[in-house]
Amino acid sequence: METCEHVRTDIASGLMSMTLARAAKKNALTSRMYQALAQGLEHASAEPSVRAVLLDADGSDFCAGNDIADFLAMANSKSELAGSAVLRFLRTLASFDKPLVAAVRGRAVGIGTTMLLHCDLAYVAEDAKLSVPFVDLALVPEAASSLLLPLRIGHVRAFALFALGEILDGRTAAAWGLANAALPADQVTTRARSAALALAAKPLQALQATKKLMREQSRVLAAIESECREFADRLASTEAQAILRSVLARKGG
Ligand code: COA
Repeated sequence: METCEHVRTDIASGLMSMTLARAAKKNALTSRMYQALAQGLEHASAEPSVRAVLLDADGSDFCAGNDIADFLAMANSKSELAGSAVLRFLRTLASFDKPLVAAVRGRAVGIGTTMLLHCDLAYVAEDAKLSVPFVDLALVPEAASSLLLPLRIGHVRAFALFALGEILDGRTAAAWGLANAALPADQVTTRARSAALALAAKPLQALQATKKLMREQSRVLAAIESECREFADRLASTEAQAILRSVLARKGG
């Protein structure tokens, strides 16, 4: 596995932890981080000693979504998005064949929230803030969230999150079935880790078969591909470029 300073991995007691480690930028994901996450999951899938994976993050916020500067760089080339580290990560995430557990504190924007739809267990802070404001950025949903989010919480709730940019607090996320539990922020990682360790001690083949039965993988992968085509068109649009440039300027990028 190549190393990336912003994604820390560790394997112990059958559990692989992958920690987003770019807290100064609210763990916004760069291409190198997507690459490292994809490689981490590929390694976890192939490595017999890994029986479950925990996704966690340094700092007060889980993930501020895709790095905005990377979005703008990608905007110039449609083919680049199709062959990008983002897409490699999304495909790997949707195909991942071992249990995946997430621990979420603070902000989870865009991919920070949509990746939770691919996790098998998720624990969130009561005051976590989940959002998927794709339309406000003149973009469209990704990571098969256009399929998975309405399935999980219903069309109108999903549409309000995508199109109105509403923010979901951790308690509501748990009540709507996006997380197993909402906890005080300082208990989230401990609880997620202990659930992941419990999974790591279960019969692996039965776990894998259960996960496979519960996820319609070909449909999910097809949604990722069609979203990607639309996303590339939106990203190249003048409305998205203007919005992303102004967000970047506000952030001093
Ligand atoms: N891409 C690149 N850098 C980002 C980022 C992103 N998506 N989100 C945050 N950052 C950076 C900021 O530029 C800032 O860097 P600086 O200290 O060098 O200026 C640092 O992270 C802290 O962010 P800041 O905005 O000051 O923190 P905040 O607590 O006030 O707000 C957020 C946190 C997440 C609400 C806010 O940063 C935000 O809205 N980010 C953009 C989210 C987004 O639209 N993502 C794309 C989703 S598809």
